[in-house]
Amino acid sequence: MSYENIEVRIEAEKVGIVTLNRPKALNALNDALMTELGQALKDFDADPAIGCIILTGSERAFAAGADIAAMAKYSFQDVYKGEYITRNWETIRQIRKPVIAAVSGFALGGGCELAMMCDFIIAADNAKFGQPEIKIGVIPGAGGTQRLPRAVGKSKAMDMALTARMMDATEAERAGLVSRIVPYEKLAEEALGAALTIASFSQIAVMAAKESVNRAFESGLSDGVMFERRLFHALFATADQKEGMDAFLTKRTPDFRHQ
Ligand code: CAA
Repeated sequence: MSYENIEVRIEAEKVGIVTLNRPKALNALNDALMTELGQALKDFDADPAIGCIILTGSERAFAAGADIAAMAKYSFQDVYKGEYITRNWETIRQIRKPVIAAVSGFALGGGCELAMMCDFIIAADNAKFGQPEIKIGVIPGAGGTQRLPRAVGKSKAMDMALTARMMDATEAERAGLVSRIVPYEKLAEEALGAALTIASFSQIAVMAAKESVNRAFESGLSDGVMFERRLFHALFATADQKEGMDAFLTKRTPDFRHQ
C-alpha cells in the first residue's frame, strides 16, 4: 500500500518499519497521518512474518505534536464527537506485537505521547521530549498527563506539563522515559538490532510479555502478579516453550515456529 504521510518498509523479512514523513511540518500529526499510521501498524500486526515494529521520524523531528494548523479551527463539538484529532490515536494500543519508538529530534505534545504509546523508546542523543500544549491554551490530549507521570514521576511530569520545558535525552534516560540513548548515527542500527532480537523469540511469548508488562499499569500488584502467573502457565501449552527449553538443555539455537 502506498501512503502520503508515512513510509513503510520491512527489514530482514521480520521487522516492520514505519517512518513518519511530513518533513515540512516536523511530522506534525494530522488525521490523515494518524489514519495511515494505524493502518500500517495493523497490517504489520497481522503479518505472521513480522516479529517487531519500529516507529521513527526524521533526524530533526520524531513528531512536533498534533497538527496545530489543522486543529486551530476545531470546535468542541468537532473534537468531542470524535470526528477529528485523537479519534484514530488509540489504534497503536491495540497492536499486540512490540512497537519500538526510535526517537531523534523533537518529540513534543502528541509526538511525545505517541512515543510513550510505544512499548519502549530508544533515543538519539539529540532527542527532546516535551508536553508544551499549555503554551497554546490546551493540555495534552493523547495520554500525556497519564503516561508521563507513570514514566517519570509526578514532579517532572508536572514541571513539563505546566512550564512546557523540554527534557533532553540524558534527562529522559535518567528519569526512565527512554530505555537507551545512542548517537544519532547509530539510532536506526540500534533500534533494528533490538527489533531483530525480539523477532528471533517466540511471538507468543513476546506478545504475552508485552501484555503482562502493560497490565502493571492497569492493576494492583496482586492482580498483576496473578495475571502474569496465568500467562506464564499458559505458555507451557505452546510448542515454542518445549522448543526453547529443549534447545537450552541440548545447547542449540531454538527454532521457534510461533506455535
Ligand atoms: N503543528 C503544525 N505545524 C507545526 C508543528 C505542529 N505541531 N510544529 C512545527 N510545525 C511547523 C511550523 O509551523 C513550521 O512551518 P512553516 O515552515 O510553514 O512555518 C515548521 O513546522 C518548522 O517549525 P519551526 O519553524 O517552528 O521550527 P523551529 O526549529 O523554530 O521550532 C519547534 C521547532 C520548537 C518544534 C516548534 O515548531 C514548535 O514549538 N512546534 C509546536 C510544538 C507544540 O506545541 N506541540 C504540541 C501540539 S498540541 C498537541 O500535540 C495536542 C495533543 O496532545 C494531542
